[in-house]
Amino acid sequence: MTAPLLHVRGVETYYGNIRALNGVDVEVHRGEIVSLIGANGAGKSTLMMTICGSPQARTGSVHFEGQDITRLPTHEIARLRIAQSPEGRRIFPRMTVLENLQMGASLDELKHFKEDVEKVFTLFPRLKERQAQRGGTLSGGEQQMLSIGRALMARPKLLLLDEPSLGLAPLIVKGIFDAIKKLNKQEGLTVFLVEQNAFGALKLSDRAYVLVNGRVTMSGTGKDLLANPEVRAAYLEGGRH
Ligand SMILES: Nc1ncnc2c1ncn2[C@@H]1O[C@H](COP(=O)(O)OP(=O)(O)OP(=O)(O)O)[C@@H](O)[C@H]1O
Ligand SMILES: [Mg+2]
Repeated sequence: MTAPLLHVRGVETYYGNIRALNGVDVEVHRGEIVSLIGANGAGKSTLMMTICGSPQARTGSVHFEGQDITRLPTHEIARLRIAQSPEGRRIFPRMTVLENLQMGASLDELKHFKEDVEKVFTLFPRLKERQAQRGGTLSGGEQQMLSIGRALMARPKLLLLDEPSLGLAPLIVKGIFDAIKKLNKQEGLTVFLVEQNAFGALKLSDRAYVLVNGRVTMSGTGKDLLANPEVRAAYLEGGRH
């Protein structure tokens, strides 16, 4: 088997004295959609941020394309083409949609700028209609599209998405998940997705991990975890479907 694109091994991450990740092992292979599900406070965002180098893992390692990136500064990790749509979307509210997309493009990619913007607009036609509108005045769903679109402008090898479905109506969530699927199928984009919406995430994913109190307690194919009674009881029954 080929080496994983992303390999997280035995990672422990702390905030001061508080340990948020307690020995996490995760692998993401090229072309996969992998999700990480877990309750509030499980450490999902912390893992995503640790991959991006802020905060850094105190022990364990993060490898990307075989390179140890555990101690690299965030901007150098971004240059390796790991792009993130963080929790809360973090778009630039006073900039227009188009300017936000410009911020996502790396300097190396400026020659592809027009082509890449068109790709994002094809994926999310709503953004094209709204390109001159300020980010802060977009709806929640549109802001999520913009956050993903901005990450795509960096031509990522690995796209990290932190709770893209949060607070959005089911129909909008479906649109976002369909777009992720399409990118994966058509462009072979590798995606690591953090979600509390376990049902949607597991349906979308090739494989998934369950995180509880900073530790991976279960992993398997999306299909298997969807059918798993423990997962169903903890994350699916009566939860967000
Ligand atoms: N900046 C911080 N300083 C101190 N503790 C933090 C900080 N950020 C997160 N934590 C703590 O680390 C733990 C994991 O938080 P994290 O945000 O990774 O969880 P999460 O799984 O993403 O939760 P949610 O589903 O609510 O987004 C929590 O106990 C949280 O209170
Ligand atoms: Mg979070």
